[in-house]
Amino acid sequence: MRVYSFFLLVVIFGFVGLGTAFSSAITRQAYSSQEETIGSQLESRDAPQNLDYKCGPRWGKCPSGTCCSSAGFCGTTKAHCRSPDCMIDYGQCDAHRVPGGPPTKDIPRPHIGLVPYGPREIRSCTVPGTVALTFDDGPTRYTGDLLDLLDKYEAPATFFITGINNGKGQIDDDQLPWASLIERMVLSGHQIASHTWSHEDLSKVTSAQRIEQLERNEAALRNIIGSFPTYMRPPYSSCLPRSGCREDLGKLGYHIVLYDIDTDDYKNDDPGLIQRSKDIFDESITSGSPHTKSWLVIGHDAHEQTVHNLTEHMLQAIFRLGYRPTTLGDCLGDPRDNWYRKDSRWPGHTNKKKKKPKKGPKKSQPHQQISVDGTCGANYTCFGSPFGLCCGSFHACGNTTQHCGAGCQKDAGYCAIEAPHNGDAWDPKFPSRKSEAGSDLRTVETAAATSLCLALLVAMWM
Ligand SMILES: *[C@@H]1O[C@H](CO)[C@@H](O)[C@H](O)[C@H]1NC(C)=O
Ligand SMILES: *[C@@H]1O[C@H](CO)[C@@H](O)[C@H](O)[C@H]1NC(C)=O
Ligand SMILES: *[C@@H]1O[C@H](CO)[C@@H](O)[C@H](O)[C@H]1NC(C)=O
Ligand SMILES: [Zn+2]
Repeated sequence: MRVYSFFLLVVIFGFVGLGTAFSSAITRQAYSSQEETIGSQLESRDAPQNLDYKCGPRWGKCPSGTCCSSAGFCGTTKAHCRSPDCMIDYGQCDAHRVPGGPPTKDIPRPHIGLVPYGPREIRSCTVPGTVALTFDDGPTRYTGDLLDLLDKYEAPATFFITGINNGKGQIDDDQLPWASLIERMVLSGHQIASHTWSHEDLSKVTSAQRIEQLERNEAALRNIIGSFPTYMRPPYSSCLPRSGCREDLGKLGYHIVLYDIDTDDYKNDDPGLIQRSKDIFDESITSGSPHTKSWLVIGHDAHEQTVHNLTEHMLQAIFRLGYRPTTLGDCLGDPRDNWYRKDSRWPGHTNKKKKKPKKGPKKSQPHQQISVDGTCGANYTCFGSPFGLCCGSFHACGNTTQHCGAGCQKDAGYCAIEAPHNGDAWDPKFPSRKSEAGSDLRTVETAAATSLCLALLVAMWM
């Protein structure tokens, strides 16, 4: 009997070891070390208070003020609270944070223009010869580079902005680089659309939560550009009819936008894999003629290869085949005035207090002249020059990240707030890659847990 139990113990430990190895291998494959991070944090920093607290559908809510991580542990670290992984019904989450300024609830939302609103969904463009490149989940640390590239090709695009996903903080937070990136999008002729506040699955939340997801993003965008979009894309493209999602979005005055070319870029974010996304794009776009066809393409500026590799490939193909890149509104023939709703209560863009140090009334210093040859510095400003708005570290005016980012001279032009490059929660080493792949991960974790429980049950029964 004793020999028997010993044998059983060996089997159980083997099982547990295997389960753990399997689960962590998959975790890495899904480009996320988040669960591992949470595990080690629980063992160290959070251990005394929180190790005992499990949370989620089977365990219930976390103690007040703490967040329920996707792995089902209570805690207060960024890894526990980052949305959309954090479980909104079982504790605090980034999703529950509320942007400042008046709520947008009471702003009228008439269905103006000819483009259908919810409950109908839009899957393609209508103006022949146009290609609308759309980018979801940003802004992120890669977005500045993407804007440089789009400038270079003079290519308008559309950004489906998420307000507070992947631990990046709020888009309207003055201390973060996101607001100035969004301003730059508008200045450069791109279209801003909504991808919700914290990227929850709109088919799986209540109607009240769904409305919050849109209205909070509206307030945050209003805080930045003075208005909010009429176009949105549901996270995970999920807005099932029986959930009531499409009707809710229609009542909120949104066009629900999907796509007809899915680049699958979030699965192929690796130099060795991105060719697959290029092939998908090429195959689709060559299947029609620009005289009759138009395309609505989905990509994600949360991914390095999308920004540094795939997008230039797509732009070159678009021009080579005789198409032109446009915003979503333009590819649908919708006049620009219909793309946004203004918040008339909100002070105009230029009166905003927070803009002062950055831009608004920032005139040239009294002794400064406007740069005449593209150089800038103590005596020459880039404001008003034809060479670009920012004065880079090499005393040259320009609009690129090199000019507007690190080393930018605030006294001689406009500067973007520089994105910190590591150490923070939105470091791409662990956030957004799994944005669309999170559910797979959860399934695997559950499978590992189930096999463990089975082993224990068997042991007890013996
Ligand atoms: C870009 O993609 C190609 C495959 O299409 C790959 O061979 C190349 O290494 C990638 N370049 C970079 C800079 O990642
Ligand atoms: C800027 O102009 C002042 C006089 O107007 C001059 O003394 C100073 O050397 C100039 N600085 C540079 C960097 O040219
Ligand atoms: C720089 O950006 C501003 C604002 O988007 C634009 O008006 C200007 O033409 C750009 N200049 C260059 C040289 O790209
Ligand atoms: Zn998304």
